[in-house]
Amino acid sequence: MFKVSAMASETSHVQETSLGSRTDSGEDFAPSILGTKEYWDNAYSRELQTYRDIGDVGEIWFGEESMNRIIQWMEKQNTPETAAILDIGTGNGVFLVELAKHGFLNLTGLDYSNASVELATNILAEEGLTNINVQEQDFLNPSPELKGFDLCIDKGTFDAISLNPEGREIAKLQYMSSLKAALKLQGHFIITSCNWTKEQLLQIFSPDFELLQELPTPCFQFGGVTGNSVTALVLKRLS
Ligand SMILES: C[S@@+](CC[C@H](N)C(=O)[O-])C[C@H]1O[C@@H](n2cnc3c(N)ncnc32)[C@H](O)[C@@H]1O
Repeated sequence: MFKVSAMASETSHVQETSLGSRTDSGEDFAPSILGTKEYWDNAYSRELQTYRDIGDVGEIWFGEESMNRIIQWMEKQNTPETAAILDIGTGNGVFLVELAKHGFLNLTGLDYSNASVELATNILAEEGLTNINVQEQDFLNPSPELKGFDLCIDKGTFDAISLNPEGREIAKLQYMSSLKAALKLQGHFIITSCNWTKEQLLQIFSPDFELLQELPTPCFQFGGVTGNSVTALVLKRLS
């Protein structure tokens, strides 16, 4: 039932991913339509229709491996089944399905696209997972009730937010403020990005967060240069 789109799978070259790519010089990248709500509303309206037509859940950003490596880390850490977990920008909600299948009980997904929330709700219902909370919310302007999480997970959402053509510096600051409001002190934040390097992410999220672990992601070799097209970091909230 699950399909991984080649467009964003880790086997495709980073230049082909539709979230864009980081620059070699470490400079910021060009703003893009992928940073707009309109883009995601249209994308998930199409995916919702496809799901209704043929049951295809649509795109899993960064591929299934990106979910497995996070779940493996959680299991290695003995993350309690009752830990409060927030999936920021849940998209089709398939990561919530995987987390539930691995026994996690206290799951919340959030997305600002109404069609995404509808798609995720339908997919969860089809899987018999009616106790997962999926909310339509803009993470940059969250409700005051969005707090108390032990673990926040972001797979591609900070990337999308930092492509916003308008005011993306402010958007990044708002993201940080929302994350700190949602996540408990000493809580964990796991981010997967194809736009930012490890060094850039550490710079953006310090000093409030410290690196606990970099999760291994596939390497590519091109023109004698070796690198990772995707970065996955586990950070701990310090302040
Ligand atoms: C690249 S997709 C990733 C979807 C999902 N996390 C996955 O891994 O398949 C980015 C997601 O972030 C959502 N998003 C972007 N900006 C957002 C915001 N300000 N608040 C909530 N969701 C947002 C989009 O609607 C989209 O579902």
